[in-house]
Amino acid sequence: MRKGIILAGGKGKRLHPITKVISKQLVPVYDKPLIFYPLSILINLGIKDILVICVPEDVKIFKKLITPLKLNVKIRFATQKKPNGLPEAFKIGKNFISKYANVLILGDNIFYNKNLLEITKNAFNDEENATIFVKQVMKPKEFGVISFDKNKKINIDEKPKKPKSNLAITGLYFFPSDVSKKVKLLKPSKRGETEITDLIKIYASENRLNIVKLNKTIWLDTGTPDRLLFASNKIRNFKIKKRIIIGNLD
Ligand code: G1P
Repeated sequence: MRKGIILAGGKGKRLHPITKVISKQLVPVYDKPLIFYPLSILINLGIKDILVICVPEDVKIFKKLITPLKLNVKIRFATQKKPNGLPEAFKIGKNFISKYANVLILGDNIFYNKNLLEITKNAFNDEENATIFVKQVMKPKEFGVISFDKNKKINIDEKPKKPKSNLAITGLYFFPSDVSKKVKLLKPSKRGETEITDLIKIYASENRLNIVKLNKTIWLDTGTPDRLLFASNKIRNFKIKKRIIIGNLD
């Protein structure tokens, strides 16, 4: 069994003023609040126990949105008071994860692939190692980036000024149950937060990292106004032209 975590905290600074008074994960992406999309991924993966981590003032509103959906999964809430970095999810969720492997999805990431279960099957079943999903992007500078040197050694960099490849690390991560121990080893980066890329590096250094390339998968990160608009249009096109509903919770 794997547990699921949606990290829906943060200040969404790049979306100000929209997110000054409303959580980023409640912003509409075409016809649904953003959080529906990562939530639908965890549910489609068959995860039955999900922890939503948000800022304290948003718990009430997330509950109001999600509880009436009757999703047939257990959804709990926890809070992140300050944006101390993505790995903090595993400190906050330590008791929730307990002895279970887990899937972390970022609350602002949207994925679509009709073969999602097939693509994630090995990662799902491998409870000893971590798995990340990478995709080629135009602007790798804006993401965690993975590259390989001549000796096939992995390099992992968070938002590098000079990216060594165009392979971005997406916001979907499968971690083993020992992740809550590993986060204790992390030190804050220059921007004062612990970085998910440093956590991934720990697994890489232990030869416990699987890397899956997402080729035909749609991956939309909605962190900026342009990307948010792009995502809305893409989801609308899918619905209208292909009759495919991305982020469906029905
Ligand atoms: C985070 C991670 C980054 C990853 C990205 C995916 O960045 O730190 O490694 O590539 O999510 O969306 P953020 O966009 O939260 O700054």
